[in-house]
Amino acid sequence: MSTTEQNPDKKRVHVKTWGCQMNVYDSQRMTGLLKPLGYETTEDATNADLVILNTCHIREKAAEKVYSELGRLKDVKARGGTIAVAGCVAQAEGAEMRERAPQVDFVIGPQSYHKLPEIIARTSRDTGDRLFTDFDVDEKFDALTEHHEPDGYCAFVTVQEGCDKFCTFCVVPYTRGAEVSRSTDQITAEIRSLVSQGVREVTLLGQNVNAWHGAAPAGSGQDDWGLGELCRHLAKIDGLDRIRFTTSHPRDMDDGLLAAFGEEPKLMPYLHLPVQAGSDKILKAMNRGHTAETYIRQIEAVRKARPDIAISGDMIVGFPGESDQDFEDTMALVREINYASCFSFKYSRRPGTPGAAMPKQVAEDIKSERLQRLQALLNEQRHAFDGAQVGKTLPVLLDKRGRLDGQLMGKSPYLQSVHVIAPENLLGQIIPVRIESAGPNSLKGVLA
Ligand code: 5AD
Ligand code: SF4
Repeated sequence: MSTTEQNPDKKRVHVKTWGCQMNVYDSQRMTGLLKPLGYETTEDATNADLVILNTCHIREKAAEKVYSELGRLKDVKARGGTIAVAGCVAQAEGAEMRERAPQVDFVIGPQSYHKLPEIIARTSRDTGDRLFTDFDVDEKFDALTEHHEPDGYCAFVTVQEGCDKFCTFCVVPYTRGAEVSRSTDQITAEIRSLVSQGVREVTLLGQNVNAWHGAAPAGSGQDDWGLGELCRHLAKIDGLDRIRFTTSHPRDMDDGLLAAFGEEPKLMPYLHLPVQAGSDKILKAMNRGHTAETYIRQIEAVRKARPDIAISGDMIVGFPGESDQDFEDTMALVREINYASCFSFKYSRRPGTPGAAMPKQVAEDIKSERLQRLQALLNEQRHAFDGAQVGKTLPVLLDKRGRLDGQLMGKSPYLQSVHVIAPENLLGQIIPVRIESAGPNSLKGVLA
């Protein structure tokens, strides 16, 4: 039986998401925008009337996965369904994609999601217009506030989009456009609304979230605010207990934000601050605009403000020109920082970025070898950080049911998953949990 026979008024949308938290958030917003049109979400692409692939362009593999997924969606087309490609691959390769994958009904870039209902209506009238990749972020931000339903007790809230940094390996400045901040009033209104629906923890999102700046609210007697002030302001919202933000750039890390970690208890002790490499020569070639030393000093300062803070980062190995010594500098920086968690990647040559045209590209087998060594060290550090929690009692926000009967799952202040046997009525609460063991990806504890 087809979907429409089961429920003639309802249509189903399936969204598959790749990439960063910003994409996860955008996917939630797209389904929110489609609800008034009668679309329910489905986990199953095969019975969907509309499939949206929300794509990531950051590394080559991420983009290729989209084309193989499109190949698998033949049945959706055969049943008269609609296929849309959203996200950064759509933004970067929209026109090519229309050629290479004619089964795609429309391609929509990250700055045009607010137009989705209109586009769906137009697609069904077959007006021929199929590529929506303009940049009109202000309009998009205006549309953001109205259509966001929380998914439980933790929510992501976009406060900033885009990037002006132009790291020479990265496509983001081209796919997401220039840095734009959402206004203090809009952000506050969205978070108040989320809190009134039960949300207790928010993660402020932006490609360069700490580049956020905005006008202080009228009457506050202050001028332009940075992210530190925004966090302190949001911390005043009753019922909101935890604030996080991601992803930050070392160049935008100001003293006010570092100090906030020591002064604002609602700001969780977790900082994701990517450095990408440990050699100044490579950092320069990457156009990072900071040295290894300035990064190390920033981490020292934040640890001084909040000694237990968990530090996380991103690393790239095998950037063009990276010698054995440059890679050893990366290993040395990692040893010095001692990460609680850190993502690491092999450099991926992205067409159109300056890095792709640089001489001395590093051979694939050398990249693999370096990544293996780096990941072994990072895993060791992560396990040491997790292991150090055993015996401690941590406040855990219990936000989901666990896989076992009677088990709940939650997050520690340091963003670790924690499993605990606990009654359901504790869902949505922050409860002290004594940590008893640390597994490969999560902690286990008992109610304290
Ligand atoms: N190759 C490998 N990793 C990349 N990243 C961004 N661009 C590339 C690339 N071309 C990584 C960076 C960034 C993270 C989101 O993805 O580490 O911080
Ligand atoms: Fe990409 Fe660099 Fe901008 Fe981060 S700061 S999004 S790595 S260009």
